[in-house]
Amino acid sequence: MDRRTFFQLVASTGAYVAISPFVIKKELRADNGNLFKTYERVQLVDKDGKPLMSSKLKKEENYVFNYPHKGTPCFLIDLGEPTNKDIKLKSEDGEEYLWKSGVGKNRSIVAYSAICSHQLAHPTPEDSFIKYVPRSGKTMAYKSGGIIVCSSHMSAFDPKSGAKKLSGPAEQALASIVLEIAEDDTIWATAVLGPDKFHEYFKAYKPEFKKFYGGKRKAKKLVKSKAQTITLSEYSKEIIQY
Ligand code: FES
Repeated sequence: MDRRTFFQLVASTGAYVAISPFVIKKELRADNGNLFKTYERVQLVDKDGKPLMSSKLKKEENYVFNYPHKGTPCFLIDLGEPTNKDIKLKSEDGEEYLWKSGVGKNRSIVAYSAICSHQLAHPTPEDSFIKYVPRSGKTMAYKSGGIIVCSSHMSAFDPKSGAKKLSGPAEQALASIVLEIAEDDTIWATAVLGPDKFHEYFKAYKPEFKKFYGGKRKAKKLVKSKAQTITLSEYSKEIIQY
């Protein structure tokens, strides 16, 4: 029985289901495969293939890795302070889900899809209009830093609260990447929680997939065993932020 089957069976009983670090209830529509989807458990490694350690992450750095598909970029951020807990979020279709908290010793490590939930802006090897702006930073999208900003149309998301939308035209949070920190401090991605926009994304960027991944089919392939994790400045030549 795979993890998704197990999840669906348990969820169908209506019981409260605990999946570290996220918790979802049947009535929060997690059993339809849309708002919680498990994928291969993949280890985050650095550009030399060495395991990334949760305690060694630079605080408030934008790290990027591709997961669960080879062409879907995600942010990994150690926010440097604990996240909020048990955040109820709603998709633009009105489906609710619960984001439990960040992971790591201080509950400060989070990962989110870097595909904007508004009109799918995302980091490419050429540029990125979306990034985490540190607490000391400034943005036109919101009154303070410590947030993820998409400068395409100025949406701001709160990484301390499940990437909930704070301001701008986006109508829902960024999808969360479910992380596990192993006992040896290594970091693993295991699932996607929340509305992920992957379907629309794969329909929208065919020429880009051809340019950077050798085609849409290759970009859609699932990541297996390891995901290279680098900083956003290494991932994208140009970072645009207002
Ligand atoms: S695409 Fe991100 S705000 Fe519009």
